[in-house]
Amino acid sequence: MILDLPKWFDLHTHFRQGPAVPDYIQAHRAMGCAGALAMPNTQPPVSRVTGPATPTAWSIESYRAELSAAGADAFEKLIIPLYLTRETTAAMIAEGAASGLLQACKYYPPHGTTNAEHGMPMDDLIGSDVLRAMEDHNIILCIHGEQHGLSGPDYIDAAHNAETRFYTERMPRLIAAHPRLRIVCEHITTRTAAEFVKSAPGDIGATITPQHLLYTLGHLIQGLKYHLYCLPIVKFAEDREALRQAVIVPGQSRFFAGTDSAPHTTKATACGCAAGCFTGGCAPQLYAMAFEETGIDLGTDAGRTAFENFLSLNGPAFYRFPGSTQRFRMEKAPSNTTVLDTPAGPVTPLPTGMGVELAWRIKA
Ligand code: DOR
Ligand code: ZN
Repeated sequence: MILDLPKWFDLHTHFRQGPAVPDYIQAHRAMGCAGALAMPNTQPPVSRVTGPATPTAWSIESYRAELSAAGADAFEKLIIPLYLTRETTAAMIAEGAASGLLQACKYYPPHGTTNAEHGMPMDDLIGSDVLRAMEDHNIILCIHGEQHGLSGPDYIDAAHNAETRFYTERMPRLIAAHPRLRIVCEHITTRTAAEFVKSAPGDIGATITPQHLLYTLGHLIQGLKYHLYCLPIVKFAEDREALRQAVIVPGQSRFFAGTDSAPHTTKATACGCAAGCFTGGCAPQLYAMAFEETGIDLGTDAGRTAFENFLSLNGPAFYRFPGSTQRFRMEKAPSNTTVLDTPAGPVTPLPTGMGVELAWRIKA
């Protein structure tokens, strides 16, 4: 079976900084990716709009030049959100929007994930001039939706977790205070978040990663498969089922591809594990496997259409740029991923860490 699809856009990825960036971008291009939204939790963070890079901040302008020189100039689209910090001002939003450099901002829960220490609490953002300016200037808010500062059973137990708390306690307040804000709920992992996205009023979308469609907490815990450790952490079968059912609805337009591919050259550290799954090179194959596990026959028109909507069409439509006119092909045939050797060190793609073969391969 061959799938012939429009090239897709990874609307949530991490390209980092430094000498490995060309390898990360090349891995994306090799999997039919026509463009990306590159997250701003770099070192230092992308917390300004214009100006040269400094030891404490990239600007969108300077980080864009860095990525372009590393191969992203071949992309049809490159969006770099502004990292919302205590230094972000409404004037930066207005000027960034006017210059065309600013299309989105990213909310990180303080200390909630890799390089999230510059984030400010959602409670301080709700009602702020910054979010009002984003509403006025049509700037999308990308949200890492987890309540920060929780520990132990408040962080995760069978009934609640940092994400369900965020979607039941913070999100209703956010959308009530900022009804015109266009929001992407990033890498959602729970039934609670999926239900919120489906029923919320306004312009609300969500990215879903391959790992959250394929795996559960059991897969992570059994053998402590740390290449599957990312944040938000994979959840329970019931959550995975809700995500699967959300993406296969014919004609659905709110859910789209965003891999959260997050290269780490060191996963297991002296005191824990770096959060992030690297899916450069293998994300469409993993998404196809997830659709098939949900019972979708990708050989039928209906199946292929649902997959194409999720992978290639819904994301650009939400961000209001044209889908790609180029195409790529995938074949139903086993293939393997290999460790990516970069000047920063080796990076292990997720399925290698899980010890499984891919059921699909990208046709050259
Ligand atoms: O697992 C994750 N890794 N989640 C994030 O939010 C950040 C990412 C990273 O940058 O490594
Ligand atoms: Zn991310």
